[in-house]
Amino acid sequence: MNQKVILTKKFGSNEIDILKKKYDLIIVEEEGKTLKDIVKEHYNTVALIPFLSDNVNKEIIDSLKNLRIIANYAVGYNNINFEYAGKAGIFVTNTPDILTNATADLTMALILGVSRRILESDKYMRGGRFSGWGANLLLGKELNGLTIGIIGLGKIGFATAIRAKAFGMKIIYNSRTRKKEIEKQYGFEYRDMDDLIKTSDIISPHIPYSSSVHHMFSKDTFRKMKKDTIFINVSRGGLMDENALADVLEENHLYGAGLDVFENEPEVNERLTKLENVLMTPHTGSATYNARSGMGKMVINNIEQALSGDMPDNTIPELKNMLKY
Ligand code: DGY
Repeated sequence: MNQKVILTKKFGSNEIDILKKKYDLIIVEEEGKTLKDIVKEHYNTVALIPFLSDNVNKEIIDSLKNLRIIANYAVGYNNINFEYAGKAGIFVTNTPDILTNATADLTMALILGVSRRILESDKYMRGGRFSGWGANLLLGKELNGLTIGIIGLGKIGFATAIRAKAFGMKIIYNSRTRKKEIEKQYGFEYRDMDDLIKTSDIISPHIPYSSSVHHMFSKDTFRKMKKDTIFINVSRGGLMDENALADVLEENHLYGAGLDVFENEPEVNERLTKLENVLMTPHTGSATYNARSGMGKMVINNIEQALSGDMPDNTIPELKNMLKY
């Protein structure tokens, strides 16, 4: 009999077919039950594939008595109690790299969309209001010469910085570790956080979410930003206090915001939906055909490695040492 694998929601059909051939695949969304119920029924499952919207807590982990791996279908893994899983000897993996370009592309799309008022322009056209070229019609900000503050110069932060540089922007960054080689090679400048917040024209965080950075973009932080700053968030909604963001936008302190992530997904703060200078996408940072199919392949590979007794390639850094044998 094949080993059991639980997948919470469907992804690419090719990858699902591979999983079905190798394992006894249980797809939670097809069962009409909650993940909590499914894990109790299928307690002998060896691999769990959650999405970033699934809360993989102690209770879920404890219910799965034979669990060897939690193979997250996302690069971020704040949805998993990975310390608890690691202590129980369970691998936790993610899908890095493959979605870097897709997410950096979307970051640029949001920056361009906000700076050139694409949402308002589109509404204007569809509303039949276009009556001819106008010298003052829907003027926006030019990116060339602006300073972008990138918080977190990991893979996605770096890919965003490279794109921003191609648009003529000055790149300043803050990161846990200073990257002097990159500074030298690309002309990026390291700044302390306060300085970055106060001097950037565009601010884009690219850091993992944890309780220690909850609401790092608070009313105070937003108020410290220069008037007319553009705020972008493609990382995690919990980084920002959405009500504080709505306050500063309503006060016209910021130029606008481009958001792909939200504090209480799938809920969206109603105040933000009313503002035309807020451009929103439904957490689609990695939503390209090749990124999503690559993520599926990585998940399968990670499961195969874990089940054959090897350390999966994409074991999260926090558990790499803990689970080494
Ligand atoms: C992830 O994979 O963590 C991203 O948020 C997808 O956009």
